[in-house]
Amino acid sequence: MPSPSAARRSGKAVKTVDLRAAPLRLQALLQPLHIGPVVLSNRFAMAPLTTNFATEQGLVTQQLVDHLEARARGGFGLVITENLGVHASGRVMPRMAMADRDECIEGLTRLARGIQSHGARAFAQISHCGRQSRSKFTGQSLRAPSAIACPVNRELPQALSGDEVPQAIQWFVDAAHRVEQAGFDGVELHGAHGYLIAGFLSAYSNQRQDEYGGTLEKRARFLLEIVRGIKARCRLALSVRISADELVPHGNTLTETAQLARWLQDAGVDALSVSVGVYESFNAMSMVAGETPGQWLPLAAAIKQQVSIPVMGVGRIHEAALAEQAIRAGWCDLPLFGRSAIADAELPRKAVAGQAHTTLLCLACNVCLGRSARPETLCPMSPQVGRQAWFDQVLCAPSHQPRRITVVGTGLIALTAAWVAARQGHQVSVVDAQPAGGLQGLRARVPQQAIYTRALAAARWRAQSAGVQWQSSEDQLPPGDEFWVERAAPASRSPQTLQGIEALVLQSIGGNIPASIHVEKDLALDAHPGYRALYRRHFAELGVPVVQDGLATETLADEDNARRASDFGIDPARVTRWIEDCYEPDRMTLRLNEFLVQLVQPENSSTQRRT
Ligand SMILES: Cc1cc2nc3c(=O)[nH]c(=O)nc-3n(C[C@H](O)[C@H](O)[C@H](O)COP(=O)(O)O)c2cc1C
Ligand code: SF4
Repeated sequence: MPSPSAARRSGKAVKTVDLRAAPLRLQALLQPLHIGPVVLSNRFAMAPLTTNFATEQGLVTQQLVDHLEARARGGFGLVITENLGVHASGRVMPRMAMADRDECIEGLTRLARGIQSHGARAFAQISHCGRQSRSKFTGQSLRAPSAIACPVNRELPQALSGDEVPQAIQWFVDAAHRVEQAGFDGVELHGAHGYLIAGFLSAYSNQRQDEYGGTLEKRARFLLEIVRGIKARCRLALSVRISADELVPHGNTLTETAQLARWLQDAGVDALSVSVGVYESFNAMSMVAGETPGQWLPLAAAIKQQVSIPVMGVGRIHEAALAEQAIRAGWCDLPLFGRSAIADAELPRKAVAGQAHTTLLCLACNVCLGRSARPETLCPMSPQVGRQAWFDQVLCAPSHQPRRITVVGTGLIALTAAWVAARQGHQVSVVDAQPAGGLQGLRARVPQQAIYTRALAAARWRAQSAGVQWQSSEDQLPPGDEFWVERAAPASRSPQTLQGIEALVLQSIGGNIPASIHVEKDLALDAHPGYRALYRRHFAELGVPVVQDGLATETLADEDNARRASDFGIDPARVTRWIEDCYEPDRMTLRLNEFLVQLVQPENSSTQRRT
């Protein structure tokens, strides 16, 4: 049920997901859940996902409010904010949202109200990034339990002295109090992923000799004192995120975290969120497509057996059906949607309305992660992420000169361009071209990348629902004032590119197994490192060595773009826009965004816009 107090605070009518319309198979997801003093109206929960949408001073922007409010409007019953910094020494992004001083409360209040105004409950995750930050973000030395550098960041932190530890505990308690003052329903302590709290918990990063280091009991003391401090000062719900397995030598495993879970429950924690990993094992935390969806739910299930408080599970829960299964099977009480909630803010509403096939599925490509600080979170499936107002009011503003536009090609960029043009009021036709789905259509043939087929189908649905007409390439070309033609980016057979290595994967599955793979540096250098790990494993299982000797195979030449237009009976001189088709998701996202920015109507060009 919606929070009456939230409705009062926001002054807006509260809407919740309509349970009566829910397909029977989603009934578990639509059960309410109690977390301490808070009741969630459903179990669609958005995981904390950092965006870099705050100001450089760490204050909440309208951009961040719009982003999370859209997810609440889309039907999530719980929205957990990205990690908010508790102290300047723990900042991990140039525009990390902060809760380290009273000045932050006003923006945090707007954020909580925005989420609650749609009936969702708002939890704020608070964090200090410890040794995994960089001094270029903190402007001061990094702080950690021990002076041991993170193997990824390789920056030596300063060990917190005995006097400083109580101060650090106080940073968290004060931040929790601030988010309570801002009206959040709950606070989540980020005790996972190798950050400061996790740093104390683990012998991997904690080699202190005092009462905060040594045995698990001593290592847990820092977290438990924070918990007690918050329970003494605040009334809001309290959850703690932990890495059930850190997946590194000397790191915590399920044995330690099971004990920790019991202590946290005894200390009064209301819920646990079970994740995995530290920076050194970060590929496991946000798995790329090809890794098993829901892979870490068994760890959540193991923790759930230790406690009676609600347990959240996470890990490529990419669709409602898997989340429903996770609850029904007893793996967790609250499945967290991470990247899936970025890719489609409306995921819960669509699932509840029986329209799951129209969900813009997360490709698990990690562009959002890789780009999260450069400049901020982006997503190829939802180009409006982080710029909803610009997207709706500027990019998709009605055109004063509606035209007939023919788009030749069905790759993701072409389909998105067609959708946007239709929203601008143009009469748009898409002509099927080979390969169907463009380069993403080719990717979809790689066995573990079949998600691209479904993502393309959803992008096609999005375009059609905006009025885009479909036409076979066999039919006569529709008359057009403008012709937009998709052209292939340079194809590559080098295993140092994602396209090249996936071509080898396809061949190897077809029985054509290479004797060895030669690279200058590594596989798939243009893609997220998760793909490197994935395909290294694939070829290791086949006994194919990857040799680093600089003998990478060649890059193919550009396709003849003029010929491609002519193939469709279009005079190349009449092509008004070329739409670049890309294989690798990061490049695809950047090209898509560039293309969309060019589509802004000249009459709107004076309106301020973000790119
Ligand atoms: C862009 C991005 C930002 C993230 N930021 C946070 C964060 O602020 N706090 C946190 O606990 N986890 C963070 N995570 C981890 C996610 O909450 C989640 O555990 C992970 O992505 C796996 O879930 P998924 O497969 O559903 O995305 C982040 C992950 C991504 C991809
Ligand atoms: S950028 Fe990729 S991984 Fe991130 S939400 Fe979008 S599709 Fe998913």
